[in-house]
Amino acid sequence: MLGTTLRGHYEIIKFLGRGFSETYLAQDQDLPGKPYCIVKQLKPQLWDPFVLQTATRLFETEAQVLYKLGNHDQIPRLLAHFEENGEFYLVQEFIDGDILNKDIIPGKQWSEDKVINFLQDILKILEFVHQQNIIHRDIKPSNIIRRTSDGKLVLIDFGAVKEKINTFRPNSQGKTVPIGTPGYVPNEQAIGNPEFNSDIYALGITAIQALTGILPKQLPKDPETHEVVWRNLVQIQPQLADILDKMVRCDSRKRYQSVNEVLQALSSLVTKRKFKKWQNRKIALALVLVALVPCIVVLVPEIREKIFASSHNDSSLTKTSFLTYDSSNYFMIRMKYPKDWRIQKIEDRFTGDVAKFFPPPKNDSNSFQPEVSVEMEDLKKPISLPDYTNLKVNQITRYLTNPRINESHPTKLANLPAHEVIYTGKQEQFNVKRIAVWTVKDNKAYIVTYTAEESQYDTFLETAQAMMNSLEIRKSASTSSK
Ligand SMILES: Nc1ncnc2c1ncn2[C@@H]1O[C@H](COP(=O)(O)OP(=O)(O)O)[C@@H](O)[C@H]1O
Ligand SMILES: [Mg+2]
Repeated sequence: MLGTTLRGHYEIIKFLGRGFSETYLAQDQDLPGKPYCIVKQLKPQLWDPFVLQTATRLFETEAQVLYKLGNHDQIPRLLAHFEENGEFYLVQEFIDGDILNKDIIPGKQWSEDKVINFLQDILKILEFVHQQNIIHRDIKPSNIIRRTSDGKLVLIDFGAVKEKINTFRPNSQGKTVPIGTPGYVPNEQAIGNPEFNSDIYALGITAIQALTGILPKQLPKDPETHEVVWRNLVQIQPQLADILDKMVRCDSRKRYQSVNEVLQALSSLVTKRKFKKWQNRKIALALVLVALVPCIVVLVPEIREKIFASSHNDSSLTKTSFLTYDSSNYFMIRMKYPKDWRIQKIEDRFTGDVAKFFPPPKNDSNSFQPEVSVEMEDLKKPISLPDYTNLKVNQITRYLTNPRINESHPTKLANLPAHEVIYTGKQEQFNVKRIAVWTVKDNKAYIVTYTAEESQYDTFLETAQAMMNSLEIRKSASTSSK
């Protein structure tokens, strides 16, 4: 393969690894600067028809999944997928960085803080993956890259993924192809019934490996319960150990049921840790401050004003006076907006556009006009928030070139469970950043978005969030449920 050029422009320059497929580093000869890319070639080692069939299916799935998920900033993009001379290839974005087994090495123990950051970073990616009904099935250090440019983690190798629609069954002869990596695979996945929390198990094992410096297969197990025994190998806060233990319970029913549950447990742990650190180190200073601050605040009016304004994190927000926009009864929407913002009422029943709000324009007419917009989509039939989110995540990014999703998580809108996605991309010549929040109620979806040029995004963020938080869906006579 080395030296070969595929499709006339992907020149293979280095062999990287072998699984069901062989992975190569390549360069795209057609683009300026000949950027690197990753070429995977389907190459099962056994030419058993069943293995071949499974390998082909998984290879296909990997391409489809990368295509579906590759808009996320921490998942490689799919660049091409083709057949040439009877061989199947998949080309994906090259991530410049180091795979984690350069950092998770036997004998080296990561600090607690590093493990917590690692878990939070991967869990946020997994949250997005699971939202798309996909189980990764092969979380482990060699499938995670720490990107050099920003230190963020990137999840790779979607070659083992499973779409959670029906469960994997062995073929008629009862043969299965091992999927996942021994040591990281929980029982239910090993017998062909992966659950979303199978990924939580593999991630927990990876974290325990990083903390202990011991390879998963060498970690001792309780002879009776078969649970991993590791707590005595390191000195860490019992709360973190509890979280990890719950991530790696043998019985998937006793594990965390969703990524969000783990994220919540971690975030309350982080808050407690921060508080404790602060308590330990700053008690003396805190006492002095507690005594001094009220005096200063009372005595110096400028400081008083600053402090109260900054407690809202945006000094301009406290001074802003807001007006209320009330839509027609068809849309049933109420939202507050700053008095000095321009409102454009649209209320178009056909497109679902309700209204747009613009901050006072800058003199520079070439810059991108930030906006907050409200839409209502008539769904015609009942749809759950997760299902709508699934559709929407794929849809929203289509309007931007090079879209990248930075965050995707549950939130609230108009006091209802909602979903928030933060993403970036190019719109005409501008690099824009956008928050989209949506909820569904009575067969209608309500969507609020804030868009600004990336460099200006923070300027109006607080105001836009205040506007989003103020959204109300008014009760109609026929639908009085809240
Ligand atoms: N998108 C990527 N960017 C950079 N390196 C990659 C990328 N994808 C894979 N690699 C490298 O190639 C190795 C093998 O790729 P992977 O997708 O994990 O396939 P497999 O484990 O099935 O052989 C990885 O461990 C990593 O070192
Ligand atoms: Mg791999």
